[in-house]
Amino acid sequence: MIKYLLITLFGGLALVIGCQTQEPPVASIVVESTAAIDTVTGLAIDGNFELVRAHCTACHSAKLITQNSASREGWEQMIRWMQAGQGLWELGENESLILDYLSLHYGPKKKGRRTPLTQIDWYYLQE
Ligand code: HEC
Repeated sequence: MIKYLLITLFGGLALVIGCQTQEPPVASIVVESTAAIDTVTGLAIDGNFELVRAHCTACHSAKLITQNSASREGWEQMIRWMQAGQGLWELGENESLILDYLSLHYGPKKKGRRTPLTQIDWYYLQE
């Protein structure tokens, strides 16, 4: 009898603990990089985050960055474009660090579709 009581007791306890340690549901945002995300800007956090926040969120929302993806060259072109006509200043030696950051966290998107299958053994359906 005592045995069953203990099993019930510990079983119940395990259930309660199990429920409490359950992870809260995670929003289904697909992020390529595994870095933590700053809750204010939505930018990935790493050693260059402060630099990017300082230089790249002065004129517009960081969403323009987080919703974009480009290669290092692509990001460099966007910076040149903003420097040419949008009032972005020279970034000096910070530029390569900013490009490191952008291409690491907001690099080209992985292919959305699987690559086509090859070497398929096709066969005719029999009637
Ligand atoms: C001096 C102001 C200014 C600063 C600083 C600035 N930008 Fe911009 N940026 C702009 C303007 C203006 C636009 C155009 C906004 C629009 O289309 O509504 C823009 C657009 C963009 C876009 C969208 C480009 C597109 O093709 O749609 C991206 C991405 C971007 N900026 C990234 C950055 C990054 C990265 C930095 C930091 C290196 C930065 N911006 C700093 C002014 C700035």
